[in-house]
Amino acid sequence: MFKKVSALIVLCAFIIGAAGISQGLAAEKIDVRKAAEDLAQFLVSTRRIIAQLVDVINTHGAKVEEPLPKDAPYAFKGIIPAYMGRVIGEDFFKNTGIQVKQTTLGKGEFGPRNPYNAPDEWEKEVLTRFYEPAYPKGRGYGEEAEMEGKKVYRYALPMYIEKPCLKCHGDPKTSPTGDGKDISGKPMENYQEGDVRGAVSVIIPLEEKTGV
Ligand code: HEC
Repeated sequence: MFKKVSALIVLCAFIIGAAGISQGLAAEKIDVRKAAEDLAQFLVSTRRIIAQLVDVINTHGAKVEEPLPKDAPYAFKGIIPAYMGRVIGEDFFKNTGIQVKQTTLGKGEFGPRNPYNAPDEWEKEVLTRFYEPAYPKGRGYGEEAEMEGKKVYRYALPMYIEKPCLKCHGDPKTSPTGDGKDISGKPMENYQEGDVRGAVSVIIPLEEKTGV
């Protein structure tokens, strides 16, 4: 009897131990969807902070977390969320082979402000779903796909208009230059807070590239 019990204890310990090991291995495995989602969120955060800092960046003598100096000269420097999103995405791609890019279908007569951000077929389809009013807010979409004969994981996270975005993408009547354009000189699209503005699109290679 004692022998049986101790054998059982040994067996249990073995099973628990093995489960522990396999859990350890599972933790080492990268969850590709989670990685894609977090990368997209990271770019959204970067862009959001730049949007919040637009006046600090452009106002002479302004400092973060301090009130803007009154009557200080204002000079637009071109450091906007989309610019930072593009150059950070490009730099990240060069170093990792992972694409993190912003894209959009635009709004009505307005297409993407920059053709560089135009969606490919996959992005177009996913964006169309994001724009449907019944689509759950904040939910990304991802799946395995093939690009140039190689397996990749594609993911897109919807991006929404927040208050600081309205300065440039909001009501053209609020144009700082009085001509319906934002400080970058682009026509304002009259987005409202909460509108889908586009998405961050992530492409993670699942196979090593061969050849070139
Ligand atoms: C200071 C003005 C400004 C602010 C603030 C701003 N944007 Fe933009 N946005 C632009 C400009 C200009 C472009 C075009 C960039 C380019 O030419 O590459 C753009 C492009 C974009 C794009 C890329 C798609 C396209 O149309 O080319 C997205 C998506 C976008 N903005 C979303 C947002 C969101 C979301 C916010 C707020 C978090 C925001 N923007 C805040 C000026 C602004």
